[in-house]
Amino acid sequence: MRTLQKISPLGLLAVLTLGGCRQDMQDQPRFKPLAKSDFYSDLRSARPPVEGTVARGQLHEDTYFYTGKVGNNPGDYMPFPVSEEVLARGRERFNIYCAPCHSQLGDGNGMIVQRGFRAPPSYHTDRLRKAPLGYFFDVMTNGFGAMPDYASQISTRDRWNIAAYIRALQLSQNATAADVPAGQKVPSQPPAFRGDPGSGATLPEIQSSSDAGKGEGPK
Ligand code: HEC
Repeated sequence: MRTLQKISPLGLLAVLTLGGCRQDMQDQPRFKPLAKSDFYSDLRSARPPVEGTVARGQLHEDTYFYTGKVGNNPGDYMPFPVSEEVLARGRERFNIYCAPCHSQLGDGNGMIVQRGFRAPPSYHTDRLRKAPLGYFFDVMTNGFGAMPDYASQISTRDRWNIAAYIRALQLSQNATAADVPAGQKVPSQPPAFRGDPGSGATLPEIQSSSDAGKGEGPK
């Protein structure tokens, strides 16, 4: 009520009459994108961005993090420290994005391959065991032969997480007692599988202690 009283008849008149003076912003002179303009000497209506302009979120200063390359060659180190979380995340992403073709073991015998897709090479070959970390990052980022790239589905950091996990996967299939740090016990028995360990497309079922009598399982 009080606010109404404050509006004087004069003010009300001003509001009503000025309401008629429309500033039609939608009708002001403008150029359509890429249209020609005589205003600038280069006849372009849009001004080129200032040299060195970087779009928001695209300042990739840490080149190695974004390319995995040192100069033109893949580097063999992680751009950030590897922790248990890094490996756990890498494992999770790998099992989602890579295992359908490469299998959870990395032997290249995933479910899609079993249904007829071209078989990728196993990660457990000498060549790929020796391939630098940056190479795996690059294959994920840019694709490789019949394999599509995963740059749009998997974030840069997750591609590194996966690369770290692939290294662990490779070690898991090619380790010796000498790789075990001094003072740490090697499990004396490999896990026993319930039935056929399968092809690697899925994780084999490991016998539990409730399977007593069916063989030696991990205790
Ligand atoms: C749709 C199936 C498919 C998926 C999913 C897939 N790959 Fe591949 N990958 C392939 C095929 C097929 C090849 C072999 C390509 C060729 O030789 O033309 C390959 C090759 C590779 C190679 C070996 C390159 C070389 O030098 O031989 C690496 C490393 C690799 N993939 C990593 C990955 C990673 C990491 C992921 C998950 C982010 C992934 N791939 C997801 C099918 C796939």
